[in-house]
Parts: sequence; structure tokens; C-alpha cells
Amino acid sequence: MNLMFISDEDRADLWRTHLLKQLPGLNFYVWPADSDVDKTTIDYVLVWKPAAGVIKQFPNIKAILSLGAGIDGITCDPELPTDKPIVRLVDNSLSQGMTQFAVYWAIHFHRDLGKYRVFEQHKTWTQLPQSDAAECRIGLLGLGELGTAVGQALARLQFNVAGWSRSQKSIDGITSYAGAAALPGFLKRTDILICLLPLTAETEGIINGRLLEQLPRGSVVINLARGRHLVDEDLLAALDCGHLSAAVLDVFHTEPLAPDHPFWDHPKVTVTPHIAALTFPHSGAQYIANNVRRMERGEAPENLIDLKKGY
Ligand code: NAP
Ligand code: GLV
Repeated sequence: MNLMFISDEDRADLWRTHLLKQLPGLNFYVWPADSDVDKTTIDYVLVWKPAAGVIKQFPNIKAILSLGAGIDGITCDPELPTDKPIVRLVDNSLSQGMTQFAVYWAIHFHRDLGKYRVFEQHKTWTQLPQSDAAECRIGLLGLGELGTAVGQALARLQFNVAGWSRSQKSIDGITSYAGAAALPGFLKRTDILICLLPLTAETEGIINGRLLEQLPRGSVVINLARGRHLVDEDLLAALDCGHLSAAVLDVFHTEPLAPDHPFWDHPKVTVTPHIAALTFPHSGAQYIANNVRRMERGEAPENLIDLKKGY
């Protein structure tokens, strides 16, 4: 079985090591170093943001395996073959990482830790009133693999958690809002908004001025999904007029974020470089190998993308 790895070459050795532990007979090739291999013999491509036109050069692949949970970096290829299954990454290490990151920021805002940092800088001993986590309303845009993991962890910490998705959910500790008609009600009750949506035609630009104005005054926006969910100018306007109190942004329209982008210096914005959740090869390789084995047995892989929905 032949697999072509199409991602940052410096990650290839680690993925090779862990995939070969799972699939000992695998021939693991790396793009573009191994571009002279017979492309018709490649069975799978394992990809993260492949350049446009690369995937179509492998005419006999059985599937496109994504190294990420989001597949927008694959579907944006105008030459992407539409007859090949795309399998996204669902992995416990990714859910754990995302949960840790989101919980950290929820606690940061709920417990006013940013204010205490400033007090400390001024050597000021000030005790702010402390509120119950149940009074802090967290809203998750997206209640899929990651949104659900984050929401359940926050609910265990007694936060008041709701989530918005396309379909209605029944998840302990999380109030479900589904569909466009339910969005205003969800926003109205949300103090800390966390975006964990996939980037699709429907969700691009969803965090815009119209959405932000429906959040209560003083609320916080945390975007952990994709930069293009957010209209940057609208976020800046909502922060500058005092409607929002803070934003945490891990993802951006252009990555790396340009040095002159206003987010870097904005006092109410925290920028992190797309690190909320990374896939660990030792864990991701087990999932990928399991899906490859399924396909080799003629079974459907888990977590196939529905190109009509876009995720
Ligand atoms: P997922 O399991 O596919 O979940 C997507 C969720 O979004 C589902 O609940 C889905 O609703 C909902 N949704 C999609 N379109 C919608 C719409 N138009 N209206 C309302 N809800 C909609 O995805 P995931 O694994 O949780 O990952 C989410 C995203 O996180 C990824 O696509 C990626 O962009 C991002 N991510 C970021 C990082 C990072 O480090 N910053 C790391 C990993 C992933 P249904 O449940 O009803 O289908
Ligand atoms: C990371 O952003 C991913 O989609 O896995």
C-alpha cells in the first residue's frame, strides 16, 4: 500500500514513524521529495493545505486523508477531484487540546484574571466580587466533535453552557439551539462566545456586526475555528465602541498574521498562532490507520466529508 504525505516536510518523519507502527507494510512517500514515484500507484494522500492542483495528480487514490479536523484547506483547491472521498481527522488529542485551551480562556474571563494581572503590575491589592460559574453563560458556535468536548468540560465546571448547531442535540449540561431561527436567542444569552464551526459557504463571515450586536454588552468573543468566520473590521468596531470587552483569536484570514495587522497591538485582543489544538502524530496515526484498514476491507471510513454540506 502506498501513501503520499503532502504537508510540511519537517513533520514527515514523525508521521512516518507512527504510521509504520500501525501499518508495517506501508510505503510512505513525501511530497515533493518523492515526486518521481509513479503517481498512479499511490493509494492514499495524507494532506494539510496541499497546493492547488497537487491532489489531482494522483488518479487512483482511494481517499484523501486530512491531517486536520477542518478540510477547508483541501476543498479550496479549484482542481480538487470531486469523486474521491475526503476523510477528516477526529482525534482525542485534538479534542483534549481544544478543551484545555477553551477552558483556560473561559476561566480567565470568568475569574477576571486579566484585571488581576494589571492590579499586580500596579502593586494594587484589590479583591473583585467573584460570581458563580453558573452565572457565566458560555455559547458554543458549533456542537460537533470539538464543540461538544469543550461544552461538556465547561458544564462539568458548572458554567451555564449552550451550543448552536444545524441539528438539534441532546447533550447533558448543554442547552441546544439549532438552525438560523434559533441564533438570536442563543446570542442573547451568551457572555462568552466560542466559535468551533467548520468553514463553509454558510459559516464564512458569520461573526459579523449583525451577530456581534446581538451579544450582551461586555461579552467576549473567542475564535478557535477559522479566521474567515470573522469579519475583522466588525470585531474591531465592536471592541472599540465598548460593546465587546475582549477577544481571543487563534485563527486569521491570512496566517501568519501580518506584522501590521491591528489585532497585534489592540489592548483588548489576544492573538495566538493557530495553536489551540494540534494533532499528535502518535495519536492521529492510530485513527488514520484504522480508517485505512476499514477502506482496505471494503468498508466506509469514519468521518467522511459531505461535500454538499461542506464539512
Ligand atoms: P464537526 O465535528 O464537523 O462539527 C461542526 C459543528 O458545526 C456541528 O455541530 C455542525 O452542526 C455545526 N455547523 C456546521 N455548519 C453549520 C451551520 N451552517 N449552522 C449551524 N451549525 C453548523 O467539526 P469539529 O471537529 O468540531 O471542528 C470544528 C472546526 O474547528 C474545524 O472545522 C476547524 O476549522 C476548527 N479547528 C481549529 C483548530 C485550532 O487549532 N484552532 C484545531 C482543530 C479544528 P451539526 O452537528 O448539526 O452537523
Ligand atoms: C486545525 O486547525 C484543524 O483543522 O485540525
